[in-house]
Amino acid sequence: MNKIDFHKREVVERFSLTALDYERHAQLQKLVAARLASFFPKFEHPHILEIGCGTGYLTAHLLAHYPGAVCEITDLSQAMLDECAQNFRDHKQLQFGLMDGEHPDLGKRYDLIATSMTPQWFTQPAKSLERLRGLLKPRGVLLYSTIGPDLFPQWRSVLRELGLPCGLVEPGDLPGVIDEEIHQMHFESGVQFLQNLKVTGASMPRPGYRALSAGELRSAIRLFETKKQARADWHILYGQLDA
Ligand SMILES: C[S@@+](CC[C@H](N)C(=O)[O-])C[C@H]1O[C@@H](n2cnc3c(N)ncnc32)[C@H](O)[C@@H]1O
Repeated sequence: MNKIDFHKREVVERFSLTALDYERHAQLQKLVAARLASFFPKFEHPHILEIGCGTGYLTAHLLAHYPGAVCEITDLSQAMLDECAQNFRDHKQLQFGLMDGEHPDLGKRYDLIATSMTPQWFTQPAKSLERLRGLLKPRGVLLYSTIGPDLFPQWRSVLRELGLPCGLVEPGDLPGVIDEEIHQMHFESGVQFLQNLKVTGASMPRPGYRALSAGELRSAIRLFETKKQARADWHILYGQLDA
């Protein structure tokens, strides 16, 4: 297995481990899915592909907006997919499938491809989004949300001050960004902040990151609490790619 495949497998394992607990901690992801849904275009009976469905925050909006749609709901984690299928078991127009969003079935075409808070976990976010754009029917639309480069500036500044490496994933330059938001998040402690990242699967570091030692982590948490009051702002990007 090469380094990239290993990283991807780790990402999926982390999400799989937290699938049952995800919704208790993923309030931000719920808000983001609702905002992404506000960009949904009008379609009568669209053929839809969702990538990285998780437990189904965006799936719920797809169902509400497009009652006549045929939806392929996919994720790379079987545990997440099972959780989503269970949450929407009464909706027969949903077809669930295990799929790597970076390696879709190139023979299919869709009116709408939607993915919320997932492209940051792609190995090549920009390239993969462009590949997905190639699966759109004429007048089709791809909508995505993901993290922006100013994710958790408070945590980053603490690590910088201590001369420590930062493991947060970097999505790089993305095509078709149409909007961005900053969500202020206040945590009771640095540990709670890190715990939140863990349960939402977001603690997976970028490839090549050197993990902090226990002592380094303690120092970072202390400074994060005293200097930043355990505040960590999410930077969210919304993007649209047209066929
Ligand atoms: C942060 S969760 C977002 C889930 C859901 N869309 C939401 O907004 O709550 C990211 C999801 O992407 C999935 N994922 C990660 N890498 C993926 C990939 N390459 N292809 C498809 N799904 C992937 C994870 O298993 C996880 O369910």
